[in-house]
Amino acid sequence: MNKNAFRQLSYGVYVVSTWDKGRATGCTANSAMQITSEPATIAVSINHDNYTNQCIQDTGKFAVSILGENSDPGIIGTFGFKSGRDSNKFNEVKQELRECMPVVADACAYAVCEVVDKMETSTHTVFLGKVLDADILSADDPMTYAYYHKVIKGKSPKNAPTYIAE
Ligand SMILES: Cc1cc2nc3c(=O)[nH]c(=O)nc-3n(C[C@H](O)[C@H](O)[C@H](O)COP(=O)(O)O)c2cc1C
Repeated sequence: MNKNAFRQLSYGVYVVSTWDKGRATGCTANSAMQITSEPATIAVSINHDNYTNQCIQDTGKFAVSILGENSDPGIIGTFGFKSGRDSNKFNEVKQELRECMPVVADACAYAVCEVVDKMETSTHTVFLGKVLDADILSADDPMTYAYYHKVIKGKSPKNAPTYIAE
């Protein structure tokens, strides 16, 4: 199997956020997609070892902040290469509250979701979220996963579903 074929799938770059006992937390994710239009539902795939997974299970809600091409790329590093277990990521990244959920202020759009179902795989939980609120935050173009790799020259760590060992 040539896993490089998966690199031809298109994604965006997102921060999936939630609450950790009253403290905002979350992780970078490329795996978010709209599943249905009415009611609007979105699915995200979050590694079992990511602290965000446990916090979404406890909170029953998550927000997806859609990063733009002009969003600070440092946000991807803060949320994608550190764990909320041992750092307060939103200390470094400005947040806004939408529908009582933390979203990244420097994003181009967001959706706030309530978990309505989930599916376990061997490594990731796929959370299905009913959208409670969504809006545009800026006129910036959304960042694609290809842009992240080609222009920002970013990498994806082992817990990303798209990880391919070097
Ligand atoms: C570009 C990028 C995409 C990522 N995509 C995902 C993803 O879709 N699902 C996932 O579980 N982790 C993904 N990750 C990895 C998590 O963001 C990373 O493991 C993070 O440190 C987990 O933080 P936490 O322990 O606070 O939840 C991605 C990371 C990067 C940089």
